[in-house]
Amino acid sequence: MRIDVITLFPDIFQGYLSESMLKRAIDRGIVEIHLHNLRDWAPDKHKTVDDKPYGGGPGMILRVDRVVPCVEDVQAMCPDPGHLVMLTPQGRRLNQAIVEELARFSRLILLCGRYEGFDERVRLILRPDEISIGDYVLNGGEVAAMVVIDAVVRLVPGFLGDEASNREESFSGPDRLLEYPQYTRPREYRGFRVPEVLLSGNHQAVAQWRLQKRIETTRRRRAELLGGGWRAVWAEEPTSHGLSGESPPTLPGEKQAEQKELETPAENKSSVGDIQRPGASSHGIAGGFPARPPEDTSTAPGFSSEDRPADVS
Ligand code: ADE
Repeated sequence: MRIDVITLFPDIFQGYLSESMLKRAIDRGIVEIHLHNLRDWAPDKHKTVDDKPYGGGPGMILRVDRVVPCVEDVQAMCPDPGHLVMLTPQGRRLNQAIVEELARFSRLILLCGRYEGFDERVRLILRPDEISIGDYVLNGGEVAAMVVIDAVVRLVPGFLGDEASNREESFSGPDRLLEYPQYTRPREYRGFRVPEVLLSGNHQAVAQWRLQKRIETTRRRRAELLGGGWRAVWAEEPTSHGLSGESPPTLPGEKQAEQKELETPAENKSSVGDIQRPGASSHGIAGGFPARPPEDTSTAPGFSSEDRPADVS
């Protein structure tokens, strides 16, 4: 994959590109990153890229006659013009589904803003895919671009080793649940024991326990990730998954429940390292969940078609 970054501060990227896992991927030819300084597209002797807003107001606006020629020249550097991403707080909010979408392009061009933003005509002319990394305002798009690069390159084939790429990560896979808890040696530390099921050698029980943990954690921390498909499983099959009688995760008392789970002292001999729930088997889900929730595209996590710019296919 090739990623071009257009920025007024290319040096911000140097440390990240030369120190992280990305360096190894660049050295191995798995990703190429090209930095372009927007100022190089300013023809005047002062290299001006911004100006005061028409109508008054604070700050400076990036000029359309600097940004558009720069993007067009960068696009023309390859036969593949790439997918143009503009980093802006007004964009669709980045999530793993969008990261997966971006990772399918063989070339991305990331356009970083600074100051009070871009002249609106940059959007109208270039029709970029506008992406925000969260509901807060950064000093510019550079850190956001690094977030996009970091998340996307992990999905480029060959970037991660086999072992890592097979892991069930948070937000990934068909269900997009949070990740299950992980343990390593020692088996016991300060009274906290590794759940028995993980030491049992029973792969099916481990898989069931992990799925149960993923669902529980997601319900407690990020209930909105459980789309309509999961809610239907919850409502319709209360006994098969061994979590009957559970109420939705945002009810008062949820915090205490999570706290209790974290405090699993070794003295509690009857425990397998989990809070036992009434009706739940010791290894979690009795009947097992379906591998994925039933389709429910209206409430499924990820971006909706409304969020998608009209020109993005
Ligand atoms: N530039 C400034 N704030 C930003 C944000 N939240 N996401 C992406 N780009 C930005």
